[in-house]
Amino acid sequence: MIEHRISHSCEGMDWNALTELIRTAGLACQTPQIYQKAFHNSYAVVFLWEKEKLIGCGRALSDGTVQTAIYDIALLPEYQGFGLGRTIVEELIRQTPGCNFILYAAPRKESFYQKLGFSRLKTGMGLFVNPDNLRHRGMLE
Ligand SMILES: CC(C)(COP(=O)(O)OP(=O)(O)OC[C@H]1O[C@@H](n2cnc3c(N)ncnc32)[C@H](O)[C@@H]1OP(=O)(O)O)[C@@H](O)C(=O)NCCC(=O)NCCS
Repeated sequence: MIEHRISHSCEGMDWNALTELIRTAGLACQTPQIYQKAFHNSYAVVFLWEKEKLIGCGRALSDGTVQTAIYDIALLPEYQGFGLGRTIVEELIRQTPGCNFILYAAPRKESFYQKLGFSRLKTGMGLFVNPDNLRHRGMLE
């Protein structure tokens, strides 16, 4: 078990460190400025810390009552496999109880979400800014 603490606020965030975390986790990466705006404008955010080191993150967009979409679930590689990914997702789910939750899993991460109770969408559709990139990564037909 890894000693960690959880925060739910963007206040004082080092956006370069957050961007580096997401990049190191292997997710498609935006600029620090874009993450600052995206996390600030999210309904709920979760950050995981080991002492003062940022080790994990996640965020959710929501109407707060019916629908929630989850994004940017990431852990530094050396912190993966200890139950912290589950903690991040369950923390986000707790922020909007009673909602439906959707997300698109990174390739080969579907089983992680299935273990948390998620099912595959049969009719999910997306309109993306950069569909070729998603096709290349195997996330779009
Ligand atoms: C995906 C990620 C968030 C999972 O977090 P994690 O802390 O490694 O996973 P956990 O330890 O909380 O695992 C929870 C359960 O899912 C399982 N699991 C985790 N990753 C899995 C995977 N890739 N495939 C299958 N099962 C997986 C675990 O075995 C565990 O099962 P258990 O409850 O039966 O023991 C983390 O590995 C990560 O940051 N990966 C890189 C970034 C990424 O792909 N993010 C997801 C974007 S959609």
